[in-house]
Amino acid sequence: MAEFTEVEPHVPREAVDAARALAERDKIEVVVALGGGSAMGVGKGVVSGEGRTLIAIPTTYAGSEMTPVFGTTDRAERRKMVRRDDAVLPKLVIYDPEVTLELSPELTAATAINALAHCIEACYALDVNPLVPPVALEGIRRIVRSLPLCITNGRNLDAREDLLTGAYLAGFSIGNATMALHHGICHVLGGKTGVAHGVLNTIMLPHVMQFNADAVPDAMSAIAEAMEAGARTRDFAAAPRGVAALVASLPVPKRLRDAGVPEAILDEVATEAAGNATVRNNPKPVTDADLRELLHRAW
Ligand SMILES: [Fe+2]
Repeated sequence: MAEFTEVEPHVPREAVDAARALAERDKIEVVVALGGGSAMGVGKGVVSGEGRTLIAIPTTYAGSEMTPVFGTTDRAERRKMVRRDDAVLPKLVIYDPEVTLELSPELTAATAINALAHCIEACYALDVNPLVPPVALEGIRRIVRSLPLCITNGRNLDAREDLLTGAYLAGFSIGNATMALHHGICHVLGGKTGVAHGVLNTIMLPHVMQFNADAVPDAMSAIAEAMEAGARTRDFAAAPRGVAALVASLPVPKRLRDAGVPEAILDEVATEAAGNATVRNNPKPVTDADLRELLHRAW
């Protein structure tokens, strides 16, 4: 048996290499990943291509345990690489809300908005599968109703269970859909700045939704209805407004500048994002100029 605890945001490749070397040395066959998205990422890195079995016990709402998506970051190149590999899916996931009771309000908020973004992107993915939106919308309902309760009182076990169930539905949704502009831009920003994925999600999501709203009005109406943000008017801007209001109430940075992202790198991020395959999967075509505007608005 061996233990590996040097987990950092965005899964630096060195961490995966060190954990794999440890697993090799001790002839590890079963890997238990306990933690948030980055711990899951290291666990996936250790089982990838090695025939090892992964068991996941998530302690945040990132949802990585339900997806075959596997990202690592090359720190020297400041780039996050994201792959899909069905072999890294955990064989068993243990959802226990008791292990989330001590999660700080800041991490609760940031990782739950990441889960919300998984549901939202799954609702309007280009390859949308009819099984996915009903699951994603149920995830949205649960996240939106339970997140404020978990912020007010982190030890509310019922609310924690509801939120964790929402995160599970969110992970399932994005595991069965193609990510788009929102995750593409968050991955480029994360690789370049090291700012946590959940924090980037809270900042970017309302802006990306506002950009996409007119291209996917039906999905936005359904999202707004799930959030009870006024869908019956068929006002497709209600969903971005609802998400912006939710984020405004949370203990998270509201702008890229508040998260320590320098303004000087925004154009470089926009250029890299314009060539990013995930960004190009967006239901609405995105130009270089759109990306620049989006990033400057979020800054
Ligand atoms: Fe995410």
